[in-house]
Amino acid sequence: MRRIILIGYMGAGKTTVGYALSKATGMPFYDLDWYIETRMRRKVSEIFAEKGEGGFRAIEREMLHEVAEFENVIVSCGGGTPCHFDNMDYLNRQGDTVYLKASPEVLCAHLAMGRTVRPLIAGKTPGELLTFIREQLAAREEYYCRAKHTLDVDLMDNRGKIGLSVEAARRLLGI
Ligand code: S3P
Repeated sequence: MRRIILIGYMGAGKTTVGYALSKATGMPFYDLDWYIETRMRRKVSEIFAEKGEGGFRAIEREMLHEVAEFENVIVSCGGGTPCHFDNMDYLNRQGDTVYLKASPEVLCAHLAMGRTVRPLIAGKTPGELLTFIREQLAAREEYYCRAKHTLDVDLMDNRGKIGLSVEAARRLLGI
């Protein structure tokens, strides 16, 4: 039984790589944010607005414990998932955790062109965004670094290069 769990900062490409990895291997793919939105019938941004970040983290943990029990799946987490409660220990117990590691500059470029509404960075100017990413990534890295594997995805700076990261992930994991 394999369970591949992708973690990393917002904009690292967890959903994109997870989806492509799923297509390449035939393993079903679950994105935790999508799962939360389907189960709660609410957008992540609505949950933040209604219940605050604390409320969202409690729901996220509960939903994580559902998704990470499925077998032979690829799961992508939210950027903050490993950094709350005992989630990182739990993820390492449940499967092969992979940290998709990217520099603040690459993350900023991805997030600046993203169309997804991300409550933590909504309304920030490009300059504010880069400072925020640098600071938050520095604080989160201690959790991300506890993943069993690390995959450098700075290379994945355009869609044509996603295949490179997928191939690298398959080699790393032997899948
Ligand atoms: C968050 C990342 C988001 C989502 C929520 C909070 C974070 O997921 O879970 O907006 O704390 O980094 P993505 O990393 O998929 O954008």
